[in-house]
Amino acid sequence: MAYSLITLEHAKSPISEAYRTLRTNVQFSSVDSEIKKIMITSSGPREGKSSTIANLAVSIAQTGKSVIVIDADMRNPTQHKLFGLDNGQGLSVALLQDQDYRKYVKETAVPGVMVLTGGPIPPNPAELVGSKRMKGLIEEFSQEYDMVLIDTPPIIAVTDAALLVQDVDGVILVLAAGEVNKDYALRAKEQLDKVGARILGAVLNKVDMKTNEYYYYYEYHGSDDTTKKKHKGHKGR
Ligand SMILES: Nc1ncnc2c1ncn2[C@@H]1O[C@H](COP(=O)(O)OP(=O)(O)O)[C@@H](O)[C@H]1O
Ligand SMILES: [Mg+2]
Repeated sequence: MAYSLITLEHAKSPISEAYRTLRTNVQFSSVDSEIKKIMITSSGPREGKSSTIANLAVSIAQTGKSVIVIDADMRNPTQHKLFGLDNGQGLSVALLQDQDYRKYVKETAVPGVMVLTGGPIPPNPAELVGSKRMKGLIEEFSQEYDMVLIDTPPIIAVTDAALLVQDVDGVILVLAAGEVNKDYALRAKEQLDKVGARILGAVLNKVDMKTNEYYYYYEYHGSDDTTKKKHKGHKGR
């Protein structure tokens, strides 16, 4: 199985439990100020941004809340793949056309989760993401849904994520254990600080369950497929 919507396919697995812990942490961040609009980024590609945001969306929806996932990684959109949707139209088109954004929002197989896919790759993603229309779209969705989750490209590589920081209430930084270069991770944090991001927390993803060092933390962080073999008692629903 591709590592995708594990929260849906294996709701009782330790990995899904880790996503529920993330959900709880996000909810607790909301104590002092409302946190409805959350962006996810990382220092580099393939650290697990898109998987984390999709699974977080599912676990939030499982509490009866409505969630919209906006795929603002228009350079490499993948949310449509995770949710099995068509990407012929999406955010890039919604921002270019002067029409109701809602027209481009798609329902998913998961009750409560809606997705605005990335759409065809535009020539000017940073310009689109930094536009007034994008700001308006996020604001409008935050009134319509309980939670708005935004997927973005890596913050070190391109400006898109930094441009979105002022439009969201908080940022989750995903770090791939054993893959991420420490300097890059620090640089990502610095760049987020520079633009005044409220970092809600970091997700240590792709933790190797075979190393004892991390073993105790499996409930708090994502992990790889080996967990499933180890915890035979948790076969999902
Ligand atoms: N915790 C994990 N364990 C194993 N594989 C993972 C994990 N998280 C993500 N992946 C895999 O790593 C790849 C990159 O993940 P993705 O979420 O698309 O990253 P990003 O959005 O940061 O580029 C995908 O093939 C995904 O299935
Ligand atoms: Mg991605």
